[in-house]
Amino acid sequence: MLQVESITKEYAGPAGALRILNGVSLNLERGEAVSIMGPSGSGKSTLLSILGALEPPTSGSVKLNGQDPYSFGEVELAAFRNRQVGFVFQDHCLLPQCTVLENVLLPALVATEKAPFDTEAKQLLDAVGLAHRIDHLPGQLSGGEKQRVAIARALIRKPELLLCDEPTGNLDRANAEAVADLLLELQRKQNTILVLVTHSEKLGDRVAQRYELNGGRLEKR
Ligand SMILES: Nc1ncnc2c1ncn2[C@@H]1O[C@H](COP(=O)(O)OP(=O)(O)O)[C@@H](O)[C@H]1O
Ligand SMILES: [Mg+2]
Repeated sequence: MLQVESITKEYAGPAGALRILNGVSLNLERGEAVSIMGPSGSGKSTLLSILGALEPPTSGSVKLNGQDPYSFGEVELAAFRNRQVGFVFQDHCLLPQCTVLENVLLPALVATEKAPFDTEAKQLLDAVGLAHRIDHLPGQLSGGEKQRVAIARALIRKPELLLCDEPTGNLDRANAEAVADLLLELQRKQNTILVLVTHSEKLGDRVAQRYELNGGRLEKR
């Protein structure tokens, strides 16, 4: 489970500290999903970075299954991110020189387990409808296809926590819907906690718990 307690985040600005998050708390059990909307600059991406162990909060705490990643040393922290957290960004962030299959396998490169990642990557690519594209390079794919690869990559380690930052923001309506369908279906199948940041009310409304980030606080929508 994910336990977020009274998080604040401040950045240094020219006129002193700028408070972006002002007491954000959130508790999510395995398999639960929330959507977060909010104006540009309201701190949505900042919050996801804090949840994903990429950026420490100024105060407050984040725990995943009782573990506080910010109490870890560098090696443990990297392992935590790799093993427990999957990210999908608005921009797919695929490596252009690697094939579709290689991109999905990237997070597994550092795995110490001997899981059959190759088979799992192919199954995931099949699940996102790209079984016939595994040897393509990202440059040979459409925007929707690239985002589907990014989803498969985010899920290859079966993370406890899936963080999505405007995952359909760059897609046309039909592709956005197809990508959202896949994302939610796989999240349910893997029983992953999902925190979904979106500008799309339609997408935000597809998950049970809906929030808006306003003035540094999470409000129920
Ligand atoms: N590394 C940083 N240093 C200083 N200010 C930052 C940094 N990252 C984000 N901000 C500021 O924090 C605010 C929230 O940013 P962000 O989380 O990206 O918002 P959103 O994703 O909701 O559009 C913005 O005003 C942004 O300029
Ligand atoms: Mg953002």
